[in-house]
This record gives sequence, structure tokens and C-alpha cells, in this order.
Amino acid sequence: MTEELHKDRARSRGDMSMMAEGLKRSSETMDAAKSPIVQEVLAYLGDGRTVLDIGAGVGRFTSPLAKAGCQVVAIEPSAEMLLHLRETLEQHDVSGQVQVVESSWPLADALQAEVALAAFVIQFSSDFAGFAGAMERAATRRCVLAVHVDPIMGFMKPLWELFRPHEPAPHMPDFADIYPALIQAGIVADVRIFSESHGPRWTDPSEAIPMMAARLGIAEDPEALARLRAVLSERREEFMKPRPHRAAVISWSPRPE
Ligand SMILES: C[S@@+](CC[C@H](N)C(=O)[O-])C[C@H]1O[C@@H](n2cnc3c(N)ncnc32)[C@H](O)[C@@H]1O
Repeated sequence: MTEELHKDRARSRGDMSMMAEGLKRSSETMDAAKSPIVQEVLAYLGDGRTVLDIGAGVGRFTSPLAKAGCQVVAIEPSAEMLLHLRETLEQHDVSGQVQVVESSWPLADALQAEVALAAFVIQFSSDFAGFAGAMERAATRRCVLAVHVDPIMGFMKPLWELFRPHEPAPHMPDFADIYPALIQAGIVADVRIFSESHGPRWTDPSEAIPMMAARLGIAEDPEALARLRAVLSERREEFMKPRPHRAAVISWSPRPE
């Protein structure tokens, strides 16, 4: 199921590259050790200091957790992300503390750790309860999810209104979709909302044209592409502005089976 999903909602190669670049940029600017996500994981560790980092991406949280003395299993299905992840682990000299597993969650193997973390991953799943339930079976002390509260692709909204005015903009699930699904599954979790300011995922909006054009369905339409280029150039400032962005740490003790 998750594998299917990953294909559905996640992404063309271009999207994945842009996501990797965005995550790397974010790693460079944020003080990961102070992140509420890392703090939540550290607060619930036991003596083994073991963590599953589900959907580790480029290692934004894997590396600070390993640096804090955790033994991390980093689970990541994307070959492109894995290249960046391994690079990050080497750069930070923590490869020895991290086992990388090339796979999608849920895994077929019954891995266990004190804390199971999935930061900004569950939105790619079409089965939130199944995803969270598998985390509960894997974690002995705590399950920690991070999800977006504000829309993830908010920058697409004004473009969608211009190019596809008669259709609703695509929606990536966020807190408002995910938390009720957890409640429905009997998971009543602690929630902490935090705010970050995100710069754009590009150094110039024109870098995002292939991704935006694919999403708008205009990649094969030269006239629409020229219009998109013009809009991005005219409204460059708007598309380069850092956006305040709220996210939620959702954290709960796994229920006994
Ligand atoms: C937005 S990134 C977040 C990466 C990292 N957790 C962070 O916050 O920096 C989402 C990652 O989840 C991965 N992913 C998507 N679906 C997944 C699944 N079912 N199991 C594991 N990883 C998944 C993607 O390949 C991508 O690397």
C-alpha cells in the first residue's frame, strides 16, 4: 500500500531533486539539535538510545540524532535521497552509528527501536492509521510524527488560480487531515505546534519552472510555459519571500497490542 502511495503522491525525479535541495538548504540553516522534533525524540529515549528515522531524506534529523549518541536506523526508499543521506552521514562522521535501510514504510521486517520518528513523511501515505500502527508496533517507548500545518505547496496556489481557474488546487494532506485520522484509529497523541521561516526551495524562481509546469499540466504547452516564465519574473519577489510555516510534532506512547 505505502509503496503504491509513494509512487502516487511522491514524485517525479525533478520533484525529488527539488525536495532534496530544499531539505539540504534547510539543514544548513536550521539548528537541528534545537529542533522541537529532535528534542521530542531525545526526551523519550531509553538506555539503548535507539531510533528509527522513517523517511530519513537527506538526513536532516538522522545526523543530529546520531551526534547526540543515538543508534539510528534510517529508512528511505528513494535512491536519490539515499545518495545525499550517505553523503551527510560521512560529512558529519556518524556513518558508524547509522544503519541505512533502503525501503518504504511499513517494512516487512519487524524492526524495533525505543523511538520511531517519521518527520514530514506520513502525508505521502494513503493509509495514515496503517502507517502509524506500524510505528506503534516498532517503537517500545514513543512514536513521533512531524506534519505540516500550513499548506506545503502554498506557493502553487496563486499559479493554480491563474492557469487552472476552474479547478480546485491539488491538496497534499496536512495536520487537518492526519490528526483526525489518528483519533479515528484510537491514537490520542500530544501535539505541539511550532513555527519556522522557510526560504524558497530555489535560488531563482525560474529553477522551479519544470516542477511547476508539471504540476499545472502545462509542460507541453509552449505558450503557457512562456506565460509562467513571465509571471515568475514579474512576481519574483513574491516567490522568493521566506514564508512563516507552522508544523506539528505529534507524539504518543505506543499502545500495547
Ligand atoms: C519531505 S521528505 C522528509 C525527510 C526527512 N524526514 C526530513 O524531515 O528532513 C520525505 C521523505 O520521505 C520519503 N518517503 C516517502 N514515502 C515513504 C515511505 N512510505 N516510507 C519511507 N519513506 C518515505 C521520501 O522519499 C522523502 O525522502
